[in-house]
Amino acid sequence: MDSSLVGRGALSLRGLAVDPPLFNAPMAGLSHSAMRRLFLHFGGVGCFFTEMLAAKRLPSENPNRSALVKRTDAESPLAYQLLAATPDELLPAIKVAAGVGAEVIDINFGCPAPPIRRMGGGSKLMESAEAAALLFSSARAATDLPLTAKVRLGETLDEGYLRDFVLMLEGCGADLITVHGRLRGEGYGRPPRWDWIGKVKSWVEIPVVGNGSIFSVDDGRRALEISGCDGLMVGRGAITRPWLFSELANGLYGKELSVKTPNLPDIYSKFAALLVESFKEHQRLIRLKAFTQYFSKNFPFGHNMAMRVGGAKSWDDAMLRAEEFFKSADPDFKGWGSMEKSEG
Ligand SMILES: Cc1cc2nc3c(=O)[nH]c(=O)nc-3n(C[C@H](O)[C@H](O)[C@H](O)COP(=O)(O)O)c2cc1C
Repeated sequence: MDSSLVGRGALSLRGLAVDPPLFNAPMAGLSHSAMRRLFLHFGGVGCFFTEMLAAKRLPSENPNRSALVKRTDAESPLAYQLLAATPDELLPAIKVAAGVGAEVIDINFGCPAPPIRRMGGGSKLMESAEAAALLFSSARAATDLPLTAKVRLGETLDEGYLRDFVLMLEGCGADLITVHGRLRGEGYGRPPRWDWIGKVKSWVEIPVVGNGSIFSVDDGRRALEISGCDGLMVGRGAITRPWLFSELANGLYGKELSVKTPNLPDIYSKFAALLVESFKEHQRLIRLKAFTQYFSKNFPFGHNMAMRVGGAKSWDDAMLRAEEFFKSADPDFKGWGSMEKSEG
């Protein structure tokens, strides 16, 4: 066996195979059907995620129209991440998610955003093990689907508290825990604590997925080596470089995916086409702008692209601004028109 392969291989969640154990991170405004299908194009994701879905709102969403719920069969397995504070909110949403084909239900215990905390959800739940246990065990009783939790490390570095919390989740029937290796109040400027993700791994028997600042295969290798965790979840790194999962799958899990040489304008245009296919006009522009914030980091002067596209007032205007930027960044790029003709 190749000794550079530090990944442990596939996971099984109540019989659901996750192979390789690589997850796209739930990201508001970014983890939607078009993004997941762009990841699919390159391969390497073992389990997809939706962005967080407010459980209260989910029952009134139209599954065929809602930009949040919408999916295709190819985006599979797919975890629906739910945000709730009480079983009354959560249980109807689990039913809806199961009804639209969720293969995994994930509960958000990590979101630090103040409005979410004010309603008692996300990271606020980590401050009350009792409320969290009530919520999680009610979910467990309501579904036979794999049930997972996404947490941060907590309010302060407190080994005893964190240990009790994750053991509580395991005791309530969690099938997997994802740990974003930062405290609730910590920003992205601080590196994630992979040693703490390793502590969680040593405390529970269920699989632990590590998350935080993975931008390359080397980052992923170090993360697995330090933490010994069972899989990786990747957010910003994969929005910026949607082919990253295929590199991680090959480099860490010995897959043999053909890593397509990334042609950046081509990827951008593919993503735009997926947005057009997946979303109504008024839903597209905001998602293109959110993607561009990350994707533009592939260019030395990418902030110009993010700013230009960010200021666009319409879809056509945004695509024109992106085209102009690509032309200035790459003399071989002759515009969207020439690309469509050359695409097979
Ligand atoms: C724009 C944005 C939106 C996010 N939305 C969610 C969300 O809906 N649910 C969630 O659990 N975490 C959310 N997160 C956190 C990510 O899932 C992830 O834990 C974090 O970005 C660290 O991973 P990364 O360094 O690979 O990006 C979000 C993060 C960002 C930057």
